[in-house]
Amino acid sequence: MLVGMKEILVKARKEGYGVIAPTIKSMEEIKVSIDAAEKKNSAVILNFNITYDWVKRDEDLELAAYIARERAIRSTVPVCVNLDHGKDYECVMRAIKYGFGSVMIDASYKTFEENVEITKKVCETAHAAGLSVEAELGCVGMADPSFTILGKYTQTTETDPDVVVEFVKRTNVDFLAISIGNAHGPYAKDIVPHLNFELLQKIAAATPIPLVLHGGSGTGDENMGKACTMGICKINVATDLSKEGVKVALDALNKDEKHGRLDFIQNYNTGFQNKIEYYMDVFGSTGKAF
Ligand code: 13P
Repeated sequence: MLVGMKEILVKARKEGYGVIAPTIKSMEEIKVSIDAAEKKNSAVILNFNITYDWVKRDEDLELAAYIARERAIRSTVPVCVNLDHGKDYECVMRAIKYGFGSVMIDASYKTFEENVEITKKVCETAHAAGLSVEAELGCVGMADPSFTILGKYTQTTETDPDVVVEFVKRTNVDFLAISIGNAHGPYAKDIVPHLNFELLQKIAAATPIPLVLHGGSGTGDENMGKACTMGICKINVATDLSKEGVKVALDALNKDEKHGRLDFIQNYNTGFQNKIEYYMDVFGSTGKAF
């Protein structure tokens, strides 16, 4: 069933678990993400990010949202279609027009006052259209500064817990993405980031709204499992899912060159789906669809 993000995340915050938001990079990833959610009886949030080529053009973004919505309507578990990292007011307005179920405005790299101003404006319009809004306070940078696929600045700034209440009050935002040691993209080999749980505790105590962790890949199962019991309700994951898809596809290719090649995309999708199911267990959303 197609739902808004509030339906999914308010329940998650109340019950203390996290819901995965996979970054979707093809039509098939829409299908396998929902298949994973149905198999695990979990909600899922489909993230679309316009820095990825397949939805860079407006008409492609509109089509992707349409397909995702139609697939979600036919699903037996709650599915939300979300715009990830909306870069400005106009970009978010287009997503609303195209039928997204929720939107993120990312003005995290701007000054506090600018972030408040743009987030407030987006919330006013999105709320009037019946949509909920995610914004980012503090700035989640890239794990590897040379890897800038998300188009984000490489710098990282931790969320200041002392301005959380003011930000939420002045913007009326529904969900808050925070920076507590997490980072986007692949980490250098064997590095597991240090999450600042003390900071997470302070932020969660300051606001009852659902919190979001970007850069879920490579963050460590134990770290993420713990964060999900402390107020993190949505975890964005991109890199780990693609990595697992590529691994499964290459393994099959190496085992059987002929069939491995024919089934390359199918095998990629299997790896992608398996990793989503794995993370649903880690984040605690398995069995919690309703
Ligand atoms: P990762 O690629 O690090 O999982 O980050 C994804 C993300 O946060 C998308 O918003």
